[in-house]
Amino acid sequence: MKLFGNLKVRENELYLGKFSMTELAEKFDTPLYIIDEDYFVERCEKYKEKFKSDKFESHIIYASKALLNLYIAKLVGKQDLHMDAVSGGELYTIIKAGFNPKKIYFHGNNKLIQELNFALDNEIGTIVIDNKKEYENLDKLIKEKGKKQRVLLRINPGIDAHTHEYIATSKNDSKFGLSIFDDGTISFIEEISKNQNFDFAGLHAHIGSQVFAEDSFFKEADRVIEYAKKLEERLGIKIEELNLGGGFGIYYTEEDSPFKLGKFLESYAENIKTSLEKNKLDVKIISIEPGRSLIANAGHTLYKACSVKETYSGKNYIFIDGGMTDNIRPALYGAKYEAAITNKMNDKDEVVYTLAGKCCESGDVIIKDIKLPKVDDEDLILVSSTGAYGYSMASNYNQIEKPAMIAVSDEAKLIVRRETYEDLIRNDIGDVLE
Ligand SMILES: Cc1ncc(COP(=O)(O)O)c(C=O)c1O
Repeated sequence: MKLFGNLKVRENELYLGKFSMTELAEKFDTPLYIIDEDYFVERCEKYKEKFKSDKFESHIIYASKALLNLYIAKLVGKQDLHMDAVSGGELYTIIKAGFNPKKIYFHGNNKLIQELNFALDNEIGTIVIDNKKEYENLDKLIKEKGKKQRVLLRINPGIDAHTHEYIATSKNDSKFGLSIFDDGTISFIEEISKNQNFDFAGLHAHIGSQVFAEDSFFKEADRVIEYAKKLEERLGIKIEELNLGGGFGIYYTEEDSPFKLGKFLESYAENIKTSLEKNKLDVKIISIEPGRSLIANAGHTLYKACSVKETYSGKNYIFIDGGMTDNIRPALYGAKYEAAITNKMNDKDEVVYTLAGKCCESGDVIIKDIKLPKVDDEDLILVSSTGAYGYSMASNYNQIEKPAMIAVSDEAKLIVRRETYEDLIRNDIGDVLE
């Protein structure tokens, strides 16, 4: 298992900073989401340091869908990043954390009226319009409230990012945004830019997630910049901001070959500068929206091996105390992870196991066929790099409680309490038939 951030091996045992996994499990129980806080902060700093240019101001927008709770939102605020949200609930959480609403970008392909209302009432800095109907809804609300709203328009630049179908967002049949190949998009932009209720600031695009091809990002930037130039020429408007989205691929297993982040960000910024100069376009702000790339490798899940079962056909299962309810990604789109038995770090890998969860689904598997040292009941297993889209996609299927989350730095702090049985029925109305 690749050791990211502050993960270290000492005397056959896995540590995060000064805490052994055994200690963390004893104190906080399992399953447990563990955030390597210092490594997350280091990643934020790297983005700020490397994605810059003398040609534009850069906004690093943390894509909160990757992982969001009050503590994470506060941490992102402390790093002075911007943040995005795609639902009223995400907006609410971010605002409750005391994050500056002016630094929030509100995305989504189907923002509900109540969500738009909530965004307007809370003075969200930028709303990213997805489609005509949403624009009309927003226009009506803005008029009623007598406000003016800064907006971007989500466009689809038609780039195939070569990633999983479920996380590709910029093919021509994608549900997100409006195509740059559709003439209607230009007329629509003209309409928004002439509407006094709106401050039309520019464009947003996002080509997909877990993308490794640097070239796809460069192509996207070129296409968006060329389109912005066309808009300025055709409509006589000024584009203030281009938000190029996130999706920067990361390492989960040896099958992934991510680019060197710092080097990539420098050349990305340089490419954008060159493209702006080539197109004689002055854009004040260039934004990017990393989610996974900031938090995935800084988050891990610690499980307990409850039992090992060999099937009639000879397959070895390790039954862990969590599963698809705390990490749906393997079941949803075949995501792969690495893992280690945290109390046998130097032991020889000798048995091929499948790490299975406790849900009533055969597909409830976290890792299929991983070679590990021989596992005994009560061993601890760390599945690494689960920081993004694990907790945020967690469910209560089979009435299973969501795990606790801790942030580890100089101390190990509980940042999300473990759900209880009581939490599971808190919204149920039990006396309806009485
Ligand atoms: C609009 C938008 N921005 C940013 C992201 C973040 O993607 P990633 O976590 O892969 O960086 C997403 C992910 O779905 C997205 O939809």
